[in-house]
Amino acid sequence: MRYDVSAVAKHLRCPSQPTPARSEIPLAKRVSAAVRIPLSTPSAVYNITVGGNLLPTLSRRLGPLTPGTTPRLFVISSPEIWRLWSEPLLGSFRDQPSPTPILLPAGETHKRLASVERIAEQLASSGADRDSLLLALGGGIVGDITGFIAAIYMRGIPYVQLPTTLLAQVDSSVGGKTGVNLRAGKNLVGSFHHPLAVFADTDTLSTLPPRELRAGLQESIKAGIIRSPQLFRHLEREAATILDAAHPGHIAALTRVIVASIRIKAEVVQADERESGLRMILNFGHTLGHAIEAATDYKQLLHGEAIGWGSIAATHLARARGTLSPQDAARIEQTILRYGPLPRFTAKASKLVALTTSDKKNRSGTRSFILPTAIGTVEIVRDVTDAELLHAAESMLALMRQPDLQP
Ligand SMILES: NC(=O)c1ccc[n+]([C@@H]2O[C@H](COP(=O)([O-])OP(=O)(O)OC[C@H]3O[C@@H](n4cnc5c(N)ncnc54)[C@H](O)[C@@H]3O)[C@@H](O)[C@H]2O)c1
Ligand SMILES: [Zn+2]
Repeated sequence: MRYDVSAVAKHLRCPSQPTPARSEIPLAKRVSAAVRIPLSTPSAVYNITVGGNLLPTLSRRLGPLTPGTTPRLFVISSPEIWRLWSEPLLGSFRDQPSPTPILLPAGETHKRLASVERIAEQLASSGADRDSLLLALGGGIVGDITGFIAAIYMRGIPYVQLPTTLLAQVDSSVGGKTGVNLRAGKNLVGSFHHPLAVFADTDTLSTLPPRELRAGLQESIKAGIIRSPQLFRHLEREAATILDAAHPGHIAALTRVIVASIRIKAEVVQADERESGLRMILNFGHTLGHAIEAATDYKQLLHGEAIGWGSIAATHLARARGTLSPQDAARIEQTILRYGPLPRFTAKASKLVALTTSDKKNRSGTRSFILPTAIGTVEIVRDVTDAELLHAAESMLALMRQPDLQP
């Protein structure tokens, strides 16, 4: 069975006017030039604010979120991010009580129930109550775990996302999915709990390792493929500027990517909060991407890099079915590789296919697969055979073996 999601996916518009380079914007304007993207679902209404200088102005931005109260604030972060970004954040609380930091070591191995318990105990011993507010300062790991603690501490308290990686800004901080890993798999324990707000301070990306930036951009490429030819074209044409932090137009070009990606995520979440239909399209590239992460023990590739390879495989599958033109397939593949290098890895195609059967997106034994039909439009199909998947994985692995493939 298949159904075309393009009918419900028509009204997306990316900003069509290029934003001026950051250096051309007067300082006063820069401070107020943040873009605010509203998100509204049956269970929550909030804004995602994107721009520079958000951490140093955080205190006044939090005020309107909790009218009539002065909640006690706790920042959940990791030691590395706290060392880099606590100063601007704490600076905004000069005249008021500062947030109490609770630090969690970086790394996926700490996104576990044991950390949830430890942090919850620390919150309790520090006097956190139902009126307290948690701030998640960090990447997707800090965001997912903080959101989960906020969902269950005293049966639910509010939290705010302060994402500091590109992946967290364009993807994980938006949409209310929270959770931790089990030994049996990633994100197997969790809940839906939306933040009160998201403040994506683009200044924080200045300290992000370039490899993390490029990996996060794979999720933006995905957003363009599933829903926005304009975003995809921008990523194609402005790759040099987006990837070069020293380029004068870098921040403006990157901010445009972030804003457009968040708009897409917000729109999809709005249409399908609990992933019963349209939200599934966000999983483009993720069936084989998750299999690649599992096959390489979650150690060799960053999530976005695995999604890059997974997207290439899904694109090969659509081209082989004849539902995607060779021209669009080539553009997708070239753009994904342009934002590489995607690390090479060793795995058998048959093992990758076997690993897709445990993908938690599978329901009642049928595998839902997201395939592009053109750049900006995808379909959800449920009749992908193991043979097709095997062929797609083999063709992706053959591409990987080509010398001089990537920048
Ligand atoms: N909830 C969702 O909807 C959703 C969606 C996608 C991914 N995720 C989850 O997100 C997680 C991955 O998130 P991630 O890619 O942000 O990884 P991450 O949180 O591990 O951050 C990557 C690395 O960058 C460091 N870092 C973060 N910000 C920095 C900064 N500004 N400067 C320097 N270093 C910085 C971190 O300490 C870490 O070492 C996974 O656990 C994944 O399951 C969740
Ligand atoms: Zn992802």
